[in-house]
Order: sequence, then C-alpha cells, then structure tokens
Amino acid sequence: MSKFIKKIKIKKPDDWHVHLRDNKILKKVIKYTGKFYKRALIMPNLNSPITNCIKSIAYRSRILKSMHLNYEFQPLMTCYLTKFTVPQELEVGFSKKIFIAAKFYPYSSTTNSKKGIKKISDIASVLECMEKIGMPLLIHGEEINKNIDIYDREAKFIETTLDPLRNKFPKLKIVLEHITTKESVEYVKKNDFNYLSATITPHHLMLNRNDMFYGGIRPYLYCLPILKKNTHQIALREAISNGDKHFFLGSDTAPHLNKNKINVLGCAGIFNAPSSLLSYVQIFEEMNALKHLESFCSENGPKFYNMPINKETVTIIKKPFKIKKKIKVGRDVIIPFLSGETLNWSIKN
Ligand code: DOR
Ligand code: ZN
Repeated sequence: MSKFIKKIKIKKPDDWHVHLRDNKILKKVIKYTGKFYKRALIMPNLNSPITNCIKSIAYRSRILKSMHLNYEFQPLMTCYLTKFTVPQELEVGFSKKIFIAAKFYPYSSTTNSKKGIKKISDIASVLECMEKIGMPLLIHGEEINKNIDIYDREAKFIETTLDPLRNKFPKLKIVLEHITTKESVEYVKKNDFNYLSATITPHHLMLNRNDMFYGGIRPYLYCLPILKKNTHQIALREAISNGDKHFFLGSDTAPHLNKNKINVLGCAGIFNAPSSLLSYVQIFEEMNALKHLESFCSENGPKFYNMPINKETVTIIKKPFKIKKKIKVGRDVIIPFLSGETLNWSIKN
C-alpha cells in the first residue's frame, strides 16, 4: 500500500538528540538541523561541557548567532551532570527554562565524557531533586568497564544501573537515549511512557554491525553505542513500526572533523543532520508503517517533555534527494552519513 504514497504531510518534527558542537563546526552544521526540525534538544558535551546556567545561556546565544535560517528554529538546552552538580542549579535552570533536561554520561563512555559520572551515588541528591521537579534525565545507557564486552554494555547498563535507579526514583522522568538493543526495547516498553521513553537514531535503524566492516573497516559508521547485530536492528525497526508511544526521534547527529575520524584513535559519531528526517521516512516506508511516522517524529517527543506539539506542517514528497559528499570546515571537512547517496524522499519547499 505505502509504495503508492507519493506525498506525506506531518506536523513539523523535532530532533530530541543533537550535537551541534561550537565555533566553526557549529556555524557549518546548524542549518541542516534548522532546515528539517522546529526544535532540537542540544547535547552539552562540548570540550568544556555545559555544566551550569551561565554556560548554557552563553552557548545558546552562540547557537542563535550562528544561524542564518529562513526557518524558525528553537534550540533547547541540557545540563551535563558531574559529581559537582548541585540541585539548586538544576532547580533554577529548569524553572527558568534555561535547561529542559540534564544528561548523565557514564565516565569515559563517549566523546567528552571524562567529566561524567563514575558512581551514580555521586548524583543521588540531584536525581532526587529532578524527580521532585519533573525534570527529565537523559541517559547514555552503557555500563563502562573494560571487562564488559562493547556489545553487551547497553544490556548490562539496564541490569546494573538503570533498573536499580528506577526502583529508587520511580517518578523520575527518563529518556534512554539512542537505544540499540532488543533488551532496551523490551525494558522501555514495559514501563509507563511518561516516566521512561527512548530515542532511536536513523543509523541504528538502517544498519547493523556487518555494515561497519563491509569491504573494510568504515570509520564513518563508528558511533556509540556501537552498531549491533541484525537481530537488534530488527527489534528497533519493529518497535517504531507499531506506533508505540515510548519511542521518538533523536538523531544523535554528531559531527567530527575528518582528521579526528580518520585517526589512530578515531572519534565516535555520525553526522546525519542532512539526511536524518528523510532516512526515517524511508525506514517507515520500508516497514509499511508510514501511518506512524508523525507520532514518532512530531508527537511522542513533545508529549514526553510536556511541550506543545508544533502547529506548522512539512510536506515530504517522493522525489530523489542527493546527500552532499562533504562539508568544508576551514581546511578540513566533515563527511555526512550517506555521503553522495540518494534518498527517495525530499522536503517540499
Ligand atoms: O557516537 C556518538 N557520538 N555517541 C555519543 O554518545 C556521543 C557522540 C558525540 O558527541 O560525538
Ligand atoms: Zn549523543
């Protein structure tokens, strides 16, 4: 049925997981998120992380200054939790809408996470406060320990950290970010979606770990959590195809300069802002589930965050759309996800 659909109109989507970085990278990448999304939740893991209200206000204004958009676009900010975070900072930040949520990076789990959390007990008072004020906690859900296999980190995190955390703070609103496994799908689904939801990226829906090694190692497909087995990819695709309200759009677009991707210690992250929305459309189409596209892209997220659903709409049409091969940044480049490839859908201007 859906292969005959040529045009889709949905409320304008929001991206609930975006890395914009800063300075020259920010200036180059912002327009891609701004083109497709009305709002974006901005991750705080800069080289100097956004750990308080003052830094957040300054970062937000740098984002706004870097935009030359024809569209109305709203960056929503998050606070990076460290063992020094005090509840008052979050209380003030959340009540003044300086922060929409706070992010928990386990120590050494990903890009700029060296100021992340080693022991969850270090932020117990902060979590208690967040539960009380209804401020969402965003989690990079991987248990980091060199004895845990990289492919098991997410499932292990649920068992060792997330489940005890939820028992201790049952009314804390949590987003398990960029889930990659069937264990996560199952765990999230069995909880009330007002208290536990999850974002899913386009790359984890489109790819599995085989793709990362197809014909050679492909650093541009290296991200964290790492791509998993095909059985997990299928579980993610099924989760969104059923229109389940626990899941919503968070692209985890994460630009890195080429020199930092192609390196002996290559950075994790996939820059998918130019293609994310159209990739999701393609995936829903492949799953014969276009009727659930709008709730995933434009409704489930705002409902979780208690924000209004956008009034504007976008029209997506069946027309080939070519992704740029590279984006120049000074003397370097950023290579986007699906670089040089053509997607089946475009945005109608
Ligand atoms: O692949 C990733 N890149 N995963 C993350 O969790 C962080 C992100 C980044 O900031 O580069
Ligand atoms: Zn991320």
